[in-house]
Amino acid sequence: MPLSRFGNKIFSDSCLRNVLSSASLSSYPVLRSMLMYVCICRNVTDRQVREAVTRHGVHNMRTLRKRLDACSQCGKCALEVKTLIREAQAENAMLEQQGMAA
Ligand code: FES
Repeated sequence: MPLSRFGNKIFSDSCLRNVLSSASLSSYPVLRSMLMYVCICRNVTDRQVREAVTRHGVHNMRTLRKRLDACSQCGKCALEVKTLIREAQAENAMLEQQGMAA
């Protein structure tokens, strides 16, 4: 069984998936502060998603899947990844309005 270490806690993949797919992340302060993987199956982080949107013009799930292979296995990360894409797009639009685009 694959295990991941976050701080001094060890979680199995199924436990991580349950935490990610539930609203109980606030019950896991160690995970909440260190968590960065949004797609566990493909080891894709929130930073990679934001960078794909900002630097590589990713604008939807299809283009993200082509670029990072995220959300291409179990699909449990789809909602989180879609939210991240929208957030990154909104942040980029706001930075462009302020003349601070990367
Ligand atoms: S977590 Fe399974 S495909 Fe993303």
